[in-house]
Amino acid sequence: MAAFFHFIFTLLFFSATASTHGVVRETNNPADQLVAVLNSNRTSHKGTSLYSNPGLACIALQYIKAYQGSCDAVGGPDAKKPAESEFAESFAPNCGVVSSTLSQITGRLLGCQSKYVPPSEAFSEILVKDEKGLQILYDKNHTEVGAAVTGTDGGSPYFWCVLFSSGKRNSSFALEGGEAKISRPGCFSGANDECSGAWRQPLSLWLSIAAALIAAAFAFVS
Ligand SMILES: *[C@@H]1O[C@H](CO)[C@@H](O)[C@H](O)[C@H]1NC(C)=O
Ligand SMILES: *[C@@H]1O[C@H](CO)[C@@H](O)[C@H](O)[C@H]1NC(C)=O
Ligand SMILES: *[C@@H]1O[C@H](CO)[C@@H](O)[C@H](O)[C@H]1NC(C)=O
Repeated sequence: MAAFFHFIFTLLFFSATASTHGVVRETNNPADQLVAVLNSNRTSHKGTSLYSNPGLACIALQYIKAYQGSCDAVGGPDAKKPAESEFAESFAPNCGVVSSTLSQITGRLLGCQSKYVPPSEAFSEILVKDEKGLQILYDKNHTEVGAAVTGTDGGSPYFWCVLFSSGKRNSSFALEGGEAKISRPGCFSGANDECSGAWRQPLSLWLSIAAALIAAAFAFVS
């Protein structure tokens, strides 16, 4: 119960911070939050802050979709990986990324679990939880990053994917017409996309109601 209260207050705090600083878009999108956590971790370890590339992030979402909701295929003995050729054949066209601007992928972090956790927890407990994860995170070859998260069919399991690239900011994963193709379900970073996708809406709505009730309860007892 204490954890639940803590969660509610964190949520209230975030809503309050978001509205006072006018950064609602950033804080509403878990993929953008994950990139923020990742970059602040890199800079606190004397690394560079990576450019948040929406084209690369959209491809990270396609990468997740290639798993078709199969968590078991992510790690462990049955681990699978989409074929290299899929980047040019399906991921890029689905995102409106110009194929000739596809650049080298220098690392990836991928995780899946049945429970939805906030981005900071996904970072430390799913994606960067061991020495191998840290090595990928701090690799000096990365110049840009794209992150995505999605629930399958609007619910569990939840997949998180971070792709790193050594591409040049202006000429890699370029989007046709300069705009990212937003596809649901799922959220990806860098596109100024608010991403209150259908799979998050009912939960946040429910939490707002719960928070309001708890606030009311506190008003009664104090
Ligand atoms: C960076 O992330 C790693 C892995 O989650 C964690 O062990 C470390 O404490 C983080 N560093 C900072 C400064 O948050
Ligand atoms: C970084 O890039 C260089 C040159 O492309 C390559 O030789 C090296 O293996 C890369 N390092 C890592 C950690 O990927
Ligand atoms: C790269 O993009 C930045 C803005 O994102 C722009 O200011 C700069 O002129 C661009 N550089 C080139 C070489 O196109």
